[in-house]
Amino acid sequence: MNKELSLSYKILKKIYIEKSYVSIELNKYIKSENKLNTALITKIVYGVLENDISLEYFISKFVKKLPSIQILILLKIVAYVSKNIQSIPSFALVNEIVEISKIENKNNSGFVNAVSKKLITNKYVYPNKEDRITYLSVKYNFPKWVINELLKSKNYEFIEQLLKTNLTTLTHIRVNTNLISSEDFRKKLKELNINFEDSLYDYTMYVDYSKLLKYNELENMYVVQGLPSIITCNVLGANKGKVLDVCSAPGGKSVYLASNPNLDVYACDIHAHRLDLVKKYASKLNIKNNIHYFLQDGTILNNNWINKFDFVLCDVPCSNLGVSRKKPDVLLNKELNDAKTLSAIQYKILETSANYVKAGGILQYSTCTIIDLENKNVINKFLKNHKDFELTEIKVDGINIFESEKMYTFYPNLTNTEGFFIGRLRKK
Ligand SMILES: C[S@@+](CC[C@H](N)C(=O)[O-])C[C@H]1O[C@@H](n2cnc3c(N)ncnc32)[C@H](O)[C@@H]1O
Repeated sequence: MNKELSLSYKILKKIYIEKSYVSIELNKYIKSENKLNTALITKIVYGVLENDISLEYFISKFVKKLPSIQILILLKIVAYVSKNIQSIPSFALVNEIVEISKIENKNNSGFVNAVSKKLITNKYVYPNKEDRITYLSVKYNFPKWVINELLKSKNYEFIEQLLKTNLTTLTHIRVNTNLISSEDFRKKLKELNINFEDSLYDYTMYVDYSKLLKYNELENMYVVQGLPSIITCNVLGANKGKVLDVCSAPGGKSVYLASNPNLDVYACDIHAHRLDLVKKYASKLNIKNNIHYFLQDGTILNNNWINKFDFVLCDVPCSNLGVSRKKPDVLLNKELNDAKTLSAIQYKILETSANYVKAGGILQYSTCTIIDLENKNVINKFLKNHKDFELTEIKVDGINIFESEKMYTFYPNLTNTEGFFIGRLRKK
Protein backbone atom coordinates (compact mmCIF):
# COMPACT_ATOMS: atom_id res chain seq x y z
CA MET A 1 0.00 0.00 0.00
CA ASN A 2 1.18 3.53 -0.76
CA LYS A 3 2.16 4.74 2.71
CA GLU A 4 2.09 8.42 1.77
CA LEU A 5 -1.55 8.16 0.69
CA SER A 6 -2.65 6.21 3.75
CA LEU A 7 -0.79 8.54 6.11
CA SER A 8 -2.25 11.60 4.39
CA TYR A 9 -5.69 10.07 4.91
CA LYS A 10 -4.95 9.40 8.60
CA ILE A 11 -3.80 13.00 9.14
CA LEU A 12 -6.78 14.45 7.26
CA LYS A 13 -9.18 12.38 9.37
CA LYS A 14 -7.65 13.86 12.53
CA ILE A 15 -8.19 17.35 11.15
CA TYR A 16 -11.67 16.90 9.68
CA ILE A 17 -13.16 14.61 12.30
CA GLU A 18 -11.28 15.34 15.50
CA LYS A 19 -10.80 19.01 14.60
CA SER A 20 -7.06 18.85 15.24
CA TYR A 21 -4.65 21.41 13.76
CA VAL A 22 -2.80 20.69 10.54
CA SER A 23 0.59 21.89 11.80
CA ILE A 24 0.36 19.70 14.93
CA GLU A 25 -0.73 16.56 13.06
CA LEU A 26 1.86 16.91 10.31
CA ASN A 27 4.68 17.40 12.80
CA LYS A 28 3.57 14.47 14.89
CA TYR A 29 3.34 11.90 12.11
CA ILE A 30 6.13 13.15 9.95
CA LYS A 31 8.64 13.07 12.83
CA SER A 32 7.84 9.44 13.58
CA GLU A 33 7.86 8.29 9.94
CA ASN A 34 11.25 9.38 8.67
CA LYS A 35 11.42 6.91 5.79
CA LEU A 36 8.47 8.47 4.00
CA ASN A 37 8.29 11.21 1.39
CA THR A 38 7.20 13.90 3.82
CA ALA A 39 7.07 16.63 1.19
CA LEU A 40 4.49 14.59 -0.69
CA ILE A 41 2.38 14.04 2.42
CA THR A 42 2.52 17.76 3.23
CA LYS A 43 1.49 18.62 -0.33
CA ILE A 44 -1.47 16.23 -0.26
CA VAL A 45 -2.68 17.33 3.18
CA TYR A 46 -2.38 21.06 2.48
CA GLY A 47 -3.68 20.62 -1.07
CA VAL A 48 -6.87 18.93 0.12
CA LEU A 49 -7.44 21.48 2.91
CA GLU A 50 -6.73 24.50 0.72
CA ASN A 51 -9.17 23.23 -1.91
CA ASP A 52 -11.73 21.74 0.42
CA ILE A 53 -14.76 23.61 -0.90
CA SER A 54 -13.88 23.26 -4.60
CA LEU A 55 -13.14 19.54 -4.18
CA GLU A 56 -16.46 18.98 -2.46
CA TYR A 57 -18.27 20.88 -5.18
CA PHE A 58 -16.53 18.77 -7.84
CA ILE A 59 -17.40 15.51 -6.05
CA SER A 60 -21.02 16.62 -5.60
CA LYS A 61 -21.39 16.56 -9.40
CA PHE A 62 -20.89 12.77 -9.42
CA VAL A 63 -22.88 11.60 -6.41
CA LYS A 64 -26.58 11.78 -5.51
CA LYS A 65 -25.80 12.50 -1.90
CA LEU A 66 -22.47 13.26 -0.19
CA PRO A 67 -21.07 10.12 1.49
CA SER A 68 -19.83 9.74 5.07
CA ILE A 69 -16.99 12.04 6.08
CA GLN A 70 -14.41 9.20 5.85
CA ILE A 71 -15.35 8.38 2.26
CA LEU A 72 -15.59 12.06 1.38
CA ILE A 73 -12.00 12.61 2.57
CA LEU A 74 -10.83 9.70 0.40
CA LEU A 75 -12.63 11.13 -2.63
CA LYS A 76 -11.13 14.56 -1.96
CA ILE A 77 -7.69 12.94 -1.98
CA VAL A 78 -8.46 11.31 -5.35
CA ALA A 79 -9.77 14.56 -6.83
CA TYR A 80 -6.81 16.59 -5.59
CA VAL A 81 -4.00 14.14 -6.30
CA SER A 82 -5.22 13.18 -9.78
CA LYS A 83 -5.15 16.80 -10.93
CA ASN A 84 -2.07 18.04 -9.09
CA ILE A 85 0.43 15.26 -8.41
CA GLN A 86 1.81 13.55 -11.50
CA SER A 87 4.11 11.21 -9.60
CA ILE A 88 1.14 9.05 -8.55
CA PRO A 89 -0.48 7.53 -11.66
CA SER A 90 -4.28 7.79 -11.61
CA PHE A 91 -4.96 4.02 -11.86
CA ALA A 92 -2.61 3.32 -8.91
CA LEU A 93 -4.23 6.15 -6.99
CA VAL A 94 -7.72 4.71 -7.42
CA ASN A 95 -6.56 1.19 -6.45
CA GLU A 96 -4.92 2.50 -3.29
CA ILE A 97 -7.90 4.60 -2.27
CA VAL A 98 -10.27 1.67 -2.84
CA GLU A 99 -8.03 -0.50 -0.62
CA ILE A 100 -8.04 2.13 2.13
CA SER A 101 -11.83 2.43 1.89
CA LYS A 102 -12.13 -1.34 2.46
CA ILE A 103 -10.39 -0.91 5.82
CA GLU A 104 -13.11 1.58 6.80
CA ASN A 105 -15.95 -0.55 5.47
CA LYS A 106 -15.84 -3.27 2.78
CA ASN A 107 -19.24 -2.24 1.41
CA ASN A 108 -17.90 1.13 0.27
CA SER A 109 -15.38 -0.09 -2.27
CA GLY A 110 -17.71 -0.28 -5.29
CA PHE A 111 -18.95 3.26 -4.69
CA VAL A 112 -15.44 4.65 -4.11
CA ASN A 113 -14.15 2.92 -7.23
CA ALA A 114 -16.97 4.24 -9.44
CA VAL A 115 -16.84 7.85 -8.19
CA SER A 116 -13.03 7.94 -8.21
CA LYS A 117 -12.98 6.91 -11.89
CA LYS A 118 -15.30 9.81 -12.70
CA LEU A 119 -13.11 12.21 -10.74
CA ILE A 120 -9.93 11.20 -12.53
CA THR A 121 -11.44 11.30 -16.01
CA ASN A 122 -13.33 14.62 -15.70
CA LYS A 123 -11.95 18.16 -15.49
CA TYR A 124 -12.63 20.36 -12.45
CA VAL A 125 -16.08 21.92 -12.62
CA TYR A 126 -16.75 25.46 -11.40
CA PRO A 127 -20.16 27.06 -10.77
CA ASN A 128 -21.68 29.52 -13.17
CA LYS A 129 -20.40 33.06 -12.55
CA GLU A 130 -23.97 34.35 -12.30
CA ASP A 131 -24.35 32.68 -8.93
CA ARG A 132 -21.69 35.00 -7.60
CA ILE A 133 -21.54 33.83 -4.00
CA THR A 134 -21.26 30.15 -4.92
CA TYR A 135 -18.77 31.04 -7.63
CA LEU A 136 -16.51 33.01 -5.27
CA SER A 137 -16.81 30.35 -2.60
CA VAL A 138 -15.85 27.46 -4.88
CA LYS A 139 -13.28 29.30 -6.98
CA TYR A 140 -11.39 30.72 -3.99
CA ASN A 141 -12.27 28.06 -1.45
CA PHE A 142 -13.86 30.43 1.00
CA PRO A 143 -16.99 29.64 3.06
CA LYS A 144 -20.20 31.23 1.82
CA TRP A 145 -21.13 32.52 5.25
CA VAL A 146 -17.92 34.56 5.38
CA ILE A 147 -18.56 35.99 1.92
CA ASN A 148 -22.06 36.95 3.05
CA GLU A 149 -20.61 38.69 6.10
CA LEU A 150 -18.08 40.57 3.97
CA LEU A 151 -20.84 41.61 1.58
CA LYS A 152 -22.41 43.63 4.39
CA SER A 153 -19.76 46.30 3.88
CA LYS A 154 -17.84 45.39 0.69
CA ASN A 155 -18.88 44.68 -2.90
CA TYR A 156 -18.21 41.54 -4.98
CA GLU A 157 -15.29 43.08 -6.86
CA PHE A 158 -13.54 43.99 -3.61
CA ILE A 159 -14.15 40.53 -2.17
CA GLU A 160 -12.82 38.84 -5.31
CA GLN A 161 -9.67 40.98 -5.13
CA LEU A 162 -9.33 40.04 -1.48
CA LEU A 163 -9.71 36.33 -2.15
CA LYS A 164 -7.37 36.46 -5.13
CA THR A 165 -4.53 38.01 -3.16
CA ASN A 166 -1.52 35.77 -2.94
CA LEU A 167 0.64 36.70 -0.02
CA THR A 168 4.35 36.02 0.01
CA THR A 169 5.42 32.54 1.09
CA LEU A 170 8.30 34.07 3.03
CA THR A 171 7.93 34.29 6.80
CA HIS A 172 7.70 37.61 8.62
CA ILE A 173 10.18 38.10 11.46
CA ARG A 174 11.17 40.77 13.96
CA VAL A 175 14.84 41.20 14.85
CA ASN A 176 15.59 40.98 18.56
CA THR A 177 17.34 44.34 18.66
CA ASN A 178 18.23 43.81 22.34
CA LEU A 179 20.73 41.25 21.04
CA ILE A 180 21.76 42.42 17.57
CA SER A 181 21.22 45.53 15.45
CA SER A 182 18.97 45.22 12.41
CA GLU A 183 21.91 46.16 10.23
CA ASP A 184 24.14 43.40 11.61
CA PHE A 185 21.33 40.87 11.33
CA ARG A 186 20.86 41.74 7.64
CA LYS A 187 24.61 41.36 7.13
CA LYS A 188 24.43 37.88 8.64
CA LEU A 189 21.54 36.91 6.37
CA LYS A 190 23.51 38.08 3.35
CA GLU A 191 26.66 36.22 4.45
CA LEU A 192 24.67 33.02 4.93
CA ASN A 193 22.89 33.52 1.63
CA ILE A 194 19.45 33.53 3.24
CA ASN A 195 16.89 35.13 0.99
CA PHE A 196 14.98 38.06 2.58
CA GLU A 197 12.79 40.99 1.63
CA ASP A 198 12.23 44.29 3.42
CA SER A 199 9.09 44.92 5.42
CA LEU A 200 7.68 48.08 7.02
CA TYR A 201 10.28 48.68 9.75
CA ASP A 202 14.07 48.39 9.65
CA TYR A 203 13.84 45.66 12.33
CA THR A 204 11.25 43.58 10.43
CA MET A 205 11.61 41.51 7.26
CA TYR A 206 10.29 38.56 5.27
CA VAL A 207 12.73 35.63 5.21
CA ASP A 208 13.14 32.15 3.83
CA TYR A 209 12.36 30.49 7.14
CA SER A 210 13.34 26.95 6.19
CA LYS A 211 16.89 28.22 5.58
CA LEU A 212 16.98 30.46 8.63
CA LEU A 213 15.99 27.54 10.86
CA LYS A 214 19.17 25.70 9.96
CA TYR A 215 21.34 28.24 11.81
CA ASN A 216 21.05 27.59 15.54
CA GLU A 217 23.42 30.44 16.31
CA LEU A 218 20.79 32.91 15.02
CA GLU A 219 17.97 31.37 17.07
CA ASN A 220 17.55 34.12 19.69
CA MET A 221 18.28 37.00 17.35
CA TYR A 222 14.80 37.06 15.84
CA VAL A 223 11.22 36.00 16.46
CA VAL A 224 8.55 34.99 13.99
CA GLN A 225 5.83 37.64 14.27
CA GLY A 226 3.32 38.90 11.72
CA LEU A 227 3.53 42.53 10.65
CA PRO A 228 0.02 43.46 11.90
CA SER A 229 0.89 42.06 15.33
CA ILE A 230 3.94 44.34 15.47
CA ILE A 231 1.96 47.33 14.19
CA THR A 232 -0.71 46.86 16.83
CA CYS A 233 1.94 46.97 19.58
CA ASN A 234 3.49 50.08 18.05
CA VAL A 235 0.23 52.01 17.66
CA LEU A 236 -0.67 51.22 21.27
CA GLY A 237 1.85 54.00 21.99
CA ALA A 238 3.07 52.47 25.23
CA ASN A 239 6.43 54.07 26.05
CA LYS A 240 6.27 53.76 29.79
CA GLY A 241 3.80 52.61 32.42
CA LYS A 242 1.73 49.51 33.14
CA VAL A 243 0.35 47.36 30.33
CA LEU A 244 -2.25 44.64 30.73
CA ASP A 245 -2.37 42.06 27.92
CA VAL A 246 -5.67 40.32 28.60
CA CYS A 247 -5.32 37.47 26.07
CA SER A 248 -1.58 37.14 25.77
CA ALA A 249 -0.72 33.60 24.68
CA PRO A 250 1.42 32.53 22.89
CA GLY A 251 3.03 35.85 23.77
CA GLY A 252 3.96 37.67 20.57
CA LYS A 253 2.68 41.03 21.76
CA SER A 254 3.45 40.79 25.49
CA VAL A 255 7.03 39.79 24.85
CA TYR A 256 7.57 42.50 22.25
CA LEU A 257 6.09 45.13 24.58
CA ALA A 258 8.19 43.87 27.49
CA SER A 259 11.35 44.27 25.42
CA ASN A 260 10.93 47.92 26.44
CA PRO A 261 12.28 48.01 30.04
CA ASN A 262 10.17 51.11 30.81
CA LEU A 263 7.01 49.02 30.57
CA ASP A 264 5.63 46.71 33.21
CA VAL A 265 3.67 44.02 31.35
CA TYR A 266 0.95 41.84 32.91
CA ALA A 267 0.47 38.85 30.58
CA CYS A 268 -2.79 36.94 31.11
CA ASP A 269 -4.58 34.03 29.53
CA ILE A 270 -7.47 31.75 30.39
CA HIS A 271 -5.46 28.56 29.70
CA ALA A 272 -2.54 27.57 31.92
CA HIS A 273 -0.82 25.54 29.18
CA ARG A 274 -0.97 28.58 26.88
CA LEU A 275 0.32 30.92 29.57
CA ASP A 276 3.30 28.56 29.83
CA LEU A 277 4.02 29.32 26.17
CA VAL A 278 4.33 33.02 27.04
CA LYS A 279 6.70 32.20 29.90
CA LYS A 280 8.86 30.04 27.64
CA TYR A 281 8.89 32.65 24.91
CA ALA A 282 9.89 35.47 27.31
CA SER A 283 12.62 33.41 28.94
CA LYS A 284 14.02 32.45 25.53
CA LEU A 285 14.47 36.16 24.87
CA ASN A 286 15.80 36.74 28.38
CA ILE A 287 12.91 38.97 29.41
CA LYS A 288 12.08 38.44 33.08
CA ASN A 289 12.05 41.50 35.31
CA ASN A 290 9.19 43.47 33.79
CA ILE A 291 6.75 40.72 32.78
CA HIS A 292 4.26 39.06 35.18
CA TYR A 293 1.91 36.16 34.47
CA PHE A 294 -1.72 35.70 35.49
CA LEU A 295 -4.10 32.89 34.81
CA GLN A 296 -7.22 34.99 34.37
CA ASP A 297 -10.46 34.70 32.44
CA GLY A 298 -10.85 38.03 30.67
CA THR A 299 -14.63 37.92 31.03
CA ILE A 300 -14.40 37.87 34.85
CA LEU A 301 -13.60 41.07 36.73
CA ASN A 302 -10.42 41.15 38.80
CA ASN A 303 -11.13 43.75 41.50
CA ASN A 304 -7.43 44.31 42.20
CA TRP A 305 -6.87 45.76 38.78
CA ILE A 306 -9.62 48.38 38.57
CA ASN A 307 -8.25 51.72 37.22
CA LYS A 308 -4.67 50.43 37.53
CA PHE A 309 -3.38 50.28 33.94
CA ASP A 310 -2.13 52.91 31.50
CA PHE A 311 -2.65 50.53 28.56
CA VAL A 312 -4.94 47.53 28.19
CA LEU A 313 -4.64 45.29 25.17
CA CYS A 314 -7.53 42.99 24.23
CA ASP A 315 -6.17 40.79 21.45
CA VAL A 316 -9.21 38.60 21.70
CA PRO A 317 -9.89 35.02 20.54
CA CYS A 318 -11.48 35.21 17.10
CA SER A 319 -12.39 33.21 13.98
CA ASN A 320 -8.82 33.72 12.62
CA LEU A 321 -10.16 34.35 9.12
CA GLY A 322 -7.30 36.76 8.44
CA VAL A 323 -4.75 33.97 8.64
CA SER A 324 -6.71 31.32 6.74
CA ARG A 325 -4.37 31.41 3.73
CA LYS A 326 -1.51 30.07 5.84
CA LYS A 327 -3.72 27.89 8.05
CA PRO A 328 -6.40 26.42 5.80
CA ASP A 329 -7.85 24.32 8.63
CA VAL A 330 -9.12 27.59 10.13
CA LEU A 331 -11.96 27.57 7.63
CA LEU A 332 -13.15 24.05 8.35
CA ASN A 333 -16.09 23.23 10.56
CA LYS A 334 -16.89 26.87 11.28
CA GLU A 335 -20.20 28.57 10.84
CA LEU A 336 -21.76 31.95 11.31
CA ASN A 337 -23.00 30.86 14.74
CA ASP A 338 -19.42 30.26 15.88
CA ALA A 339 -18.52 33.82 14.91
CA LYS A 340 -21.61 35.07 16.76
CA THR A 341 -20.60 33.15 19.88
CA LEU A 342 -17.10 34.59 19.61
CA SER A 343 -18.47 38.07 19.14
CA ALA A 344 -20.35 37.81 22.46
CA ILE A 345 -17.17 36.64 24.27
CA GLN A 346 -15.14 39.39 22.61
CA TYR A 347 -17.61 42.01 23.82
CA LYS A 348 -17.54 40.61 27.35
CA ILE A 349 -13.73 40.66 27.41
CA LEU A 350 -13.64 44.25 26.12
CA GLU A 351 -16.27 45.44 28.57
CA THR A 352 -14.59 43.75 31.55
CA SER A 353 -11.15 45.03 30.53
CA ALA A 354 -12.43 48.61 30.29
CA ASN A 355 -12.58 48.63 34.10
CA TYR A 356 -8.81 48.28 34.32
CA VAL A 357 -7.96 51.43 32.35
CA LYS A 358 -6.88 54.59 34.22
CA ALA A 359 -8.52 57.89 33.24
CA GLY A 360 -6.77 59.05 30.06
CA GLY A 361 -5.46 55.52 29.46
CA ILE A 362 -5.78 53.39 26.33
CA LEU A 363 -7.95 50.34 25.71
CA GLN A 364 -6.96 48.66 22.45
CA TYR A 365 -9.00 45.94 20.78
CA SER A 366 -7.60 43.71 18.03
CA THR A 367 -8.40 40.52 16.13
CA CYS A 368 -6.90 38.57 13.26
CA THR A 369 -10.19 38.44 11.44
CA ILE A 370 -11.81 40.69 8.86
CA ILE A 371 -15.56 40.47 9.43
CA ASP A 372 -17.37 43.40 11.06
CA LEU A 373 -19.32 41.03 13.30
CA GLU A 374 -16.16 40.45 15.36
CA ASN A 375 -14.62 43.86 14.82
CA LYS A 376 -16.53 47.06 14.17
CA ASN A 377 -19.79 45.77 15.62
CA VAL A 378 -18.13 44.85 18.92
CA ILE A 379 -16.58 48.31 19.23
CA ASN A 380 -19.77 50.12 18.21
CA LYS A 381 -21.80 48.23 20.80
CA PHE A 382 -19.16 49.02 23.41
CA LEU A 383 -19.15 52.74 22.55
CA LYS A 384 -22.93 52.87 22.78
CA ASN A 385 -22.83 51.48 26.30
CA HIS A 386 -19.68 53.28 27.49
CA LYS A 387 -19.80 56.99 26.89
CA ASP A 388 -16.59 57.45 28.90
CA PHE A 389 -14.55 55.96 26.02
CA GLU A 390 -13.79 57.43 22.59
CA LEU A 391 -12.01 56.09 19.52
CA THR A 392 -8.63 57.61 18.68
CA GLU A 393 -7.04 57.85 15.27
CA ILE A 394 -4.01 55.74 14.53
CA LYS A 395 -1.41 56.47 11.93
CA VAL A 396 0.79 53.94 10.20
CA ASP A 397 2.88 55.27 7.31
CA GLY A 398 3.67 53.04 4.37
CA ILE A 399 0.76 50.62 4.59
CA ASN A 400 -2.76 50.95 3.23
CA ILE A 401 -4.94 50.05 6.20
CA PHE A 402 -8.66 50.48 5.54
CA GLU A 403 -10.06 53.13 7.87
CA SER A 404 -13.73 53.45 8.67
CA GLU A 405 -14.98 55.57 11.57
CA LYS A 406 -11.54 55.46 13.22
CA MET A 407 -11.43 51.67 13.08
CA TYR A 408 -8.73 49.97 11.06
CA THR A 409 -9.02 46.75 9.05
CA PHE A 410 -6.09 45.09 7.33
CA TYR A 411 -7.60 43.63 4.16
CA PRO A 412 -4.83 41.53 2.55
CA ASN A 413 -5.52 42.96 -0.94
CA LEU A 414 -4.85 46.48 0.43
CA THR A 415 -2.09 45.82 2.97
CA ASN A 416 -0.32 42.79 1.53
CA THR A 417 -0.35 41.36 5.04
CA GLU A 418 -2.58 38.85 6.72
CA GLY A 419 -6.02 40.12 7.76
CA PHE A 420 -6.26 42.03 11.04
CA PHE A 421 -8.26 44.68 12.87
CA ILE A 422 -7.42 47.41 15.38
CA GLY A 423 -9.70 49.73 17.34
CA ARG A 424 -7.95 52.07 19.78
CA LEU A 425 -10.02 53.68 22.52
CA ARG A 426 -9.15 56.32 25.10
CA LYS A 427 -10.80 56.59 28.48
CA LYS A 428 -11.89 60.18 28.81
C1 LIG B 1 -5.56 35.68 19.44
S1 LIG B 1 -4.89 34.75 20.72
C2 LIG B 1 -3.82 35.94 21.45
C3 LIG B 1 -2.53 36.10 20.74
C4 LIG B 1 -1.52 36.87 21.58
N1 LIG B 1 -2.00 38.17 21.94
C5 LIG B 1 -0.18 37.03 20.87
O1 LIG B 1 0.12 38.09 20.35
O2 LIG B 1 0.58 36.06 20.86
C6 LIG B 1 -6.19 34.68 21.85
C7 LIG B 1 -5.85 34.09 23.22
O3 LIG B 1 -6.97 34.33 24.06
C8 LIG B 1 -7.07 33.29 25.00
N2 LIG B 1 -8.43 33.34 25.54
C9 LIG B 1 -9.56 32.78 25.07
N3 LIG B 1 -10.61 33.11 25.86
C10 LIG B 1 -10.13 33.90 26.84
C11 LIG B 1 -10.71 34.55 27.96
N4 LIG B 1 -12.01 34.45 28.23
N5 LIG B 1 -9.90 35.26 28.76
C12 LIG B 1 -8.58 35.37 28.52
N6 LIG B 1 -7.97 34.77 27.48
C13 LIG B 1 -8.74 34.05 26.65
C14 LIG B 1 -6.71 32.06 24.18
O4 LIG B 1 -6.25 31.03 25.04
C15 LIG B 1 -5.62 32.59 23.26
O5 LIG B 1 -4.37 32.31 23.80
